[in-house]
Amino acid sequence: AIVKSVRFMQACVRVKDCPPPKHPEVAVIGRSNVGKSSLVNMLTNRKDIAKTSKNPGKTRTINHFEMITGDGTWYFVDLPGYGFANAPEEARRKWAEFTREYLLGRPNLLSVMLLIDSTVKPQRLDLECLEFLGENNIPVTVVFTKVDKKRKVKSGKRANPEENVEAFCREVSEYWDELPPMIFT
Ligand code: GTP
Ligand code: MG
Repeated sequence: AIVKSVRFMQACVRVKDCPPPKHPEVAVIGRSNVGKSSLVNMLTNRKDIAKTSKNPGKTRTINHFEMITGDGTWYFVDLPGYGFANAPEEARRKWAEFTREYLLGRPNLLSVMLLIDSTVKPQRLDLECLEFLGENNIPVTVVFTKVDKKRKVKSGKRANPEENVEAFCREVSEYWDELPPMIFT
């Protein structure tokens, strides 16, 4: 749809402080540095509306963006990541807590995009996150990021996104009857 306007609305850390749930909302989640804020920029067709960084731990609050299109108004929500981040343990524990509260308590949450770094092997935290979404009946689309990246891994070999994606799907199929929808960026 044609994007008419995009704006950053607000940052908060409590679901009760989120904007009134007037429009369908899509949230991005995943490990720190996986590319959540970059995806919000891509989806809203803006270069830098969501702040990105090469250092994990950039996004620290629940950030609402409003996108008005020819088809209606949407909220996009950028969230802090889980896993490794340049932030104290206590801060990361709080992020996890309010993110969980947000995911369970936001009435207009239409779906969640779970971002998976395709340059690394399946991560326990990602599988646990997917399991959490499934258990709580939160519709999820899996987005594999960085498929373009030819990063060197420890062994000196290049990252193999295809192999990582396949391995992830194999793990998921062990506890999901059907694989969730998937996108590659
Ligand atoms: P936190 O806010 O710290 O949790 O990170 P984030 O998930 O929001 O990641 P962010 O969008 O800030 O991106 C992290 C880094 O990865 C940045 O340097 C991005 O430019 C880079 N990046 C994001 N997506 C891609 C991608 O698809 N390919 C490549 N090569 N780099 C990407
Ligand atoms: Mg971010």
